[in-house]
Amino acid sequence: MNIVLMGLPGAGKGTQADKIVEKYEIPHISTGDMFRAAISEGTELGVKAKSFMDKGALVPDEVTIGIVRERLSQSDCDRGFLLDGFPRTVPQAEALNELLQDLGKKIDHVINIAADKEELISRLTGRRICKVCGSSYHLTFNPPKEAGKCDKDGGELYQRADDNPETVANRLEVNMNQTAPLLDFYEKQGVLTTIDGAKHIDEVFVDLDAVLQGEQ
Ligand code: AP5
Ligand code: ZN
Repeated sequence: MNIVLMGLPGAGKGTQADKIVEKYEIPHISTGDMFRAAISEGTELGVKAKSFMDKGALVPDEVTIGIVRERLSQSDCDRGFLLDGFPRTVPQAEALNELLQDLGKKIDHVINIAADKEELISRLTGRRICKVCGSSYHLTFNPPKEAGKCDKDGGELYQRADDNPETVANRLEVNMNQTAPLLDFYEKQGVLTTIDGAKHIDEVFVDLDAVLQGEQ
């Protein structure tokens, strides 16, 4: 199954992606995670991406499309894939269509997780991430069993550099401007489903999985 997960920052893409890839055993391709990995490795890509991410701006399309093209061409994507946070602009969506056509593949589902702005702000500013496995927690909505430590591996939890209130405001604004035309693009292709992301994490997954199973 080839899936695209859309949603504004904090909508729960990463949280739901973890559940989907566990159930369907497909690779999780998150452009945000790929950029953060490049930043921590200090590569040229990382240096470039950081200058945009620190401001809450989008990384230029040609850079982002390039890394996705490379990743989707790897053989583990033959059994399906989950794209998280890509595409985020219409040119990225057009490039993805061309790329998939070249690879003889198509998108089965585009799922947009919707939530309102106030909710997104409190989710992002309260998010904490495991240094070891990258799992997301939330101080109030999804706290770890032991404060500051990952439930799975005891890893230390940290706050993402772009989860401070000023950068969060900018990320939301930038992404809101890009989202409407992208939703139109996929609506016209007949692959888009929007689900309510304001529900509890487990309920969101039930709704999302119903779409993947063709029940909704
Ligand atoms: P990226 O890493 O993709 O970040 P984002 O889109 O801002 O999304 P987030 O990861 O912040 O949120 P999420 O939806 O995954 O939420 P999560 O599940 O963690 O991108 C970062 C940056 O990289 C961009 O700003 C840009 O610069 C660059 N970039 C990436 N892709 C790009 C592209 N295609 N083009 C150009 N630039 C690109 O949940 C958030 C919190 O809420 C967590 O604490 C979680 O526990 C909690 N939570 C989740 N679901 C629920 C729920 N249902 N109820 C209560 N709490 C919940
Ligand atoms: Zn962990």
